[in-house]
Amino acid sequence: MEKYYLTTAIDYVNGKPHIGHAYEKILTDVIARHYSQRCDDVYFLTGTDEHGVKIQKTAAAQGITPKELCDMNAQSFKDAWKALDVDYTKFIRTTDDYHEAVVQKIFKKLVEQGDIYKHSYEGWYCSGCECFLNPKDLTEDGLCPDHLKKPEIVSEENYFFKLTKYKDAIIKHIKENPTFIVPAFRANEVLNQLEDIQDISVSRSKSNVSWGVDVLDDPEQVIYVWIDALSNYITAIGYDVDNESDEFKKYWPVDVHVIGKDILKFHSIYWIGILMALGLPLPKHIFAHGWITIDESKMSKSLGNVISPTSVIENYNLETPDAFRYYMATSAACGRDGNYSDDDFKEKVNAHLANSMGNLLNRTLSMLVKYFDGEIKEEFVVNPELKKLAANTVSFVKTHFDNFEIAEAAHEIMTLVDATNKYVTDNAPWTLAKEEKMTECGSVLRTVLEIMCTVSSLIYPFCPNIARAMSTQLGYNLSVPLDEVANIEYNALKIGKLIEKEDIKPVFLRVDSEFADKSSKK
Ligand code: ME8
Ligand code: MG
Repeated sequence: MEKYYLTTAIDYVNGKPHIGHAYEKILTDVIARHYSQRCDDVYFLTGTDEHGVKIQKTAAAQGITPKELCDMNAQSFKDAWKALDVDYTKFIRTTDDYHEAVVQKIFKKLVEQGDIYKHSYEGWYCSGCECFLNPKDLTEDGLCPDHLKKPEIVSEENYFFKLTKYKDAIIKHIKENPTFIVPAFRANEVLNQLEDIQDISVSRSKSNVSWGVDVLDDPEQVIYVWIDALSNYITAIGYDVDNESDEFKKYWPVDVHVIGKDILKFHSIYWIGILMALGLPLPKHIFAHGWITIDESKMSKSLGNVISPTSVIENYNLETPDAFRYYMATSAACGRDGNYSDDDFKEKVNAHLANSMGNLLNRTLSMLVKYFDGEIKEEFVVNPELKKLAANTVSFVKTHFDNFEIAEAAHEIMTLVDATNKYVTDNAPWTLAKEEKMTECGSVLRTVLEIMCTVSSLIYPFCPNIARAMSTQLGYNLSVPLDEVANIEYNALKIGKLIEKEDIKPVFLRVDSEFADKSSKK
């Protein structure tokens, strides 16, 4: 059994989760479920980033302590992931005691080996980014380009990490490992940023930031967010500077850090420098996804267009999060920006999940009941071409996942569904039945249902509940490993009675006005 360790970014808890956070967690959950189907021992880490100025200020504005704010919002993130069936292995909070203790030790080790040194500094600090900005990156009006806020001038004596010492090694690693940064087009951006990289501030003075992890032996300094936040990926699985746990030895290096494009620099430059300094192996991949806009506008509190992930489920009265998961996971090509709009959501999930996929299963099972009393007979033959197409689809899907092309993988599944719908239309089993060509008719139905077993396995990472509803009606075991599903010799369907009329149920109800009416009447 191979291990597969994957992580999400840990979210700031100064606010509630929104659909941008949800996008990342869903993508990661889909990847995790896919590798489980490939029989890997999967470890999926997520969590919350709870220190820093931003959280300190938000708590003060709400008249509560930072810890109270963190507890309240960390719970909202956990609740959201539960509602979305994001099935993580572990949830780390950077205020967890074990994490704070190891962060202090990491910091101390780096001071002792000369990778962290003290230095007075004056710079432009953006609390939105929680970092110092290079003056040349500010807008013409002197604003942070991401937050459009004026950074504060901060003049402090801070600890610095000697990132410049690792610059050449980081450049070499990126150049020699073309799949290290995904998508590849982002690697050039990172290489450009590396050109004028400086040593980075890794602590703040306690007089300015009190909500953070104290530097051991220097109570006037607080470890500043990034070294604390990034270390979560190793502390969560039991890293300690002088004593690595068995779990750490098993799962590190991480297979993929799934993060947003805005924090790629921290992961592909700062984090790599820190890992090099700690003498630890480097991540296999860093996958930077794009950003989700709402109706093509940037999501922001000031625009008032921030959407909570659970509100979509509630508004449409969805029984399961599958439609929302499907929509989000397929909203953008690998690494590109995506968009959420209500109309597009309805149209897409109705077309793909209800019409193309759900109806295909429903119609075919109904015909099996009508013509054969729900029975698959030995003499029905599966069409080898379609079976081959399904097997090929499994391998295309695997390759897409290996490249973190999640929407592209879903597209392959829908292509198989479309081809199967076309096969039904072309072979018209209802006409074959009328002509009393019963074996031919049964063969068409068996072929379709056999393909639907493959489809239920393939759609499972995206839509686990729909996949379960499909497989139940097909009498199919969803836990069949993906490699078995891809074997053309393998018959997923059992011979004999498959289903009774009353057990045929739609696997996904259309999201539409009828449905919305139902909820408004309540
Ligand atoms: O950056 N669309 O936290 P964060 C897609 N704590 N993704 C989005 C998004 C959007 N509209 N908005 C945010 C932090 N994200 C740090 C990370 S990791 C060691 C520390 C993504 O709450 C964003 O790109 O600002 C990031 O990957 C994640 O949500 C958390 O963002
Ligand atoms: Mg952010």
